[in-house]
Amino acid sequence: MGFGIWELAFLPLPSFQPLPGFVDLLPEDAARMRHLEETARTLFERCGYREIRPPLVEDAALFERTSGATSDIVQKQMFSIPSRDDAGAFVLRPEGTPGVFRAYLEAGYAKTNPFQKFFYLGPMFRYERPQKGRQRQFHQIGIEAIGSPDPHLDAEIVYLGYRFYEAVGLRQVTVLLNSIGCAACRPAYLQTLRNALTASLDTLCALCRDRFGRNVLRILDCKNAPCTQAVAQAPRIADSLCDDCRSHDRAFRIALKAGLPISEAPRLVRGLDYYTRTVFEYHHPGLGARSAVGAGGRYDGLGERLGGSAIPAVGFAIGVEATLLALEAEGKLPEPGGAGGIFVVYVDRDCRTDAYRLTEGLRNAGVTADLDHMGRSLKSQMKAADARGAHEIWILGPDEISAGTVKIKRLSDGSEKTLPVVEAISHASRAPADAPR
Ligand code: HAM
Repeated sequence: MGFGIWELAFLPLPSFQPLPGFVDLLPEDAARMRHLEETARTLFERCGYREIRPPLVEDAALFERTSGATSDIVQKQMFSIPSRDDAGAFVLRPEGTPGVFRAYLEAGYAKTNPFQKFFYLGPMFRYERPQKGRQRQFHQIGIEAIGSPDPHLDAEIVYLGYRFYEAVGLRQVTVLLNSIGCAACRPAYLQTLRNALTASLDTLCALCRDRFGRNVLRILDCKNAPCTQAVAQAPRIADSLCDDCRSHDRAFRIALKAGLPISEAPRLVRGLDYYTRTVFEYHHPGLGARSAVGAGGRYDGLGERLGGSAIPAVGFAIGVEATLLALEAEGKLPEPGGAGGIFVVYVDRDCRTDAYRLTEGLRNAGVTADLDHMGRSLKSQMKAADARGAHEIWILGPDEISAGTVKIKRLSDGSEKTLPVVEAISHASRAPADAPR
């Protein structure tokens, strides 16, 4: 049924809010997020990681084969997009690792230059129940080092993630560590685990009873009391590692930077199926039950899962929203600074065109500059300059305009001077207003 324009006027107005689990990032939020991103970029580039930007939309099969058909992400949390031409199912990426790995293969690096270190940042999408720290669109900053089995790389990466949290100001992050074996030793452990849990199968939560057949390893990190009790008696995966996994783990731990706040986590297995050997999570006490601010691990089998050869790899992803919550809990949320720069004010409306030209002149000279667009009084313009965090106010009145000058008021000390406009702009472009003069 269609509505004419007049009928529409009588319909209740829908309220256009973001969908549940999606948030508007206002300029203050975006500034905080950018601060984390810029810190990561500086740190990661210093360590040889290069930025990669795979698409946000991928073939659903990519995640089914890598993250795992029985993982929560694939079973319950994928945002699918119907394809218009039956070209398979598309999804909004729920995580970054499979897309980065696919891009690595696609670019032919495996043949030409097999060791690559990448970082990426951007939105991920998971159809989760929205709650504190859990959104349906959230942001990750991740790194993936592809092509080397070296345990020193695991150590570099675990330390690098920790350095990021330190660099943004967090002091209470701990690193949970475990090794979950490889294709050679894990099948025997899974059988041992099934045998150990058989007697208590009826006591497990419904999800874990289901996991028992499909993905028994995940029962290890279930947080429900009956499952944690059943698991407490079960053998540890660390005791079933093959010789290669054991020596990898030993070398990794020797290489790991001394003094990191490490917690052994013998039940840590992670929710994605591709991991082998080293797995780790960064936790923060300010986050409540789901306290991981980031996580990662080695995934040497992912190449084979995509139908290629075995290509060793290791990486992690930082949860940006989780990191911001942790910063808030430590009282260290970065204050989004003002725009800074110069705010040009006009004494009366007749001076507006000259004020606009002066502002453009400053901008063209590479100086941050703005002015009022609301035709407000001089007093209100001064207040606006203050609210914007300007460092200087440049005042234009009829006298200044006829003399070709501008009156400059520095806000840090209240000092004032009058300069010819050309000289003032050239001075500002050499010494930006936000730098001390
Ligand atoms: P993950 O543990 O699924 O790992 O996610 C990493 C981090 O992203 C979590 O620790 C959490 O802080 C954040 N996160 C996950 N889901 C949400 C959500 N719904 N809302 C807000 N934050 C969330 C991965 O994604 C792997 N790809 C990490 C990796 C990279 N492993 C190897 N390389």
